[in-house]
Amino acid sequence: MDLFEYQARDLFESYGVPVLPGIVADTPEEVKAAAEKLGGVTVVKAQVKVGGRGKAGGVKVAKDPAAAEEAAKAILGLDIKGHTVHRVMVAGGARIAQEFYFSVLLDRANRSYLSLTSYEGGMEIEQLAVERPEALARIEVDPLAGIDLETAKAIAVQAKFPEELVEKVAPVFVKLWEVYKGEDATLVEVNPLVLTEEGDIIALDGKVSLDENASFRHPNHEALEDKDAADPLEAKAKANDLNYVKLDGEVGIIGNGAGLVMSTLDVVAYAGERHGGVKPANFLDIGGGASAQVMANGLDVILGDEQVKSVFVNVFGGITACDAVANGIVAALGILGDTATKPLVVRLDGNRVEEGRRILEEAAHPLVTLAATMDDGADKAAELAAAAK
Ligand SMILES: Nc1ncnc2c1ncn2[C@@H]1O[C@H](COP(=O)(O)OP(=O)(O)OP(=O)(O)O)[C@@H](O)[C@H]1O
Ligand SMILES: [Mg+2]
Repeated sequence: MDLFEYQARDLFESYGVPVLPGIVADTPEEVKAAAEKLGGVTVVKAQVKVGGRGKAGGVKVAKDPAAAEEAAKAILGLDIKGHTVHRVMVAGGARIAQEFYFSVLLDRANRSYLSLTSYEGGMEIEQLAVERPEALARIEVDPLAGIDLETAKAIAVQAKFPEELVEKVAPVFVKLWEVYKGEDATLVEVNPLVLTEEGDIIALDGKVSLDENASFRHPNHEALEDKDAADPLEAKAKANDLNYVKLDGEVGIIGNGAGLVMSTLDVVAYAGERHGGVKPANFLDIGGGASAQVMANGLDVILGDEQVKSVFVNVFGGITACDAVANGIVAALGILGDTATKPLVVRLDGNRVEEGRRILEEAAHPLVTLAATMDDGADKAAELAAAAK
């Protein structure tokens, strides 16, 4: 889960990372009031979960509350790379002497943590990494040892910070590591970390991604979720405890077991290439207990996706046998009634497959086609989706 900058700022503050005061606001009037409260020069910043806000006109310096109000009028409603700005943060204005870059992230390729640090800020980090890789210190972080003061100093030295600054930035690196570790983050990025004219080190921007697999030990993270932005289908699936991910194709997919569903996505994508380029519309794993209700909930979510033109149900009977799944499908279609309007291709295999097939054949539902194999099923479902496109 990615956080908004203001949420990252609050987290940083709670860990003792130096930040400037910030107040969130949704209207120009609130922005004006916030700027009055902060006093002096403020910076009005778009709160959207996408990079490059400054370049897109989403970050504006305001010399007084009236200017902050004007800035808010320009920023609220702005479209930044497809994200509409509904909220801004009014931050205290820093007098920047120098800008730096610091991040810690999960390095999946190397199965480790990695810190990226640069003394040269003010440039996009991706660009810096390509054009001047020597200016970016890439240092592997031992997950158990983490970043203590000594390691932090070594990072700063390797990133070419001059000696007097090493002493100043290192404690901030340690605190940022504490945020990363303490919150089970997969990314903590500060761009820019600045040195002010007054000689202070401050995190002026913050990007934090939290690992949702660890949410069970962070009850406070739920409050950070952006409920308004959640995809309505994903929200509905989540409410029903379904493992559903929306994709942008036309063939709805239901399977049991994450591995089977993943390979179903692959075979449907291949089959789609033969049928006008149709693609899988979602990932949905109904797990082991494919009861009628679970099947109905799953079908309901998938059929609620307007882009879906056909559905491929691919189930391998194990502990939940194929006859139970077949009964589940028949009952689900009964529960859904007229709302089920798209063709369903069903492939069953495994435990009690004969009984399962017989149940579906006898039910003879007009929307249901039985497929003998996974490849046949994928092909049929792709063909039906292409025909309905
Ligand atoms: N509180 C502040 N005081 C003074 N200057 C600021 C402040 N916040 C941001 N700036 C200036 O604006 C620039 C852009 O701000 P920021 O890094 O927050 O947005 P961004 O980099 O454009 O967005 P993103 O990091 O999402 O790509 C900073 O590099 C800094 O120079
Ligand atoms: Mg930034």
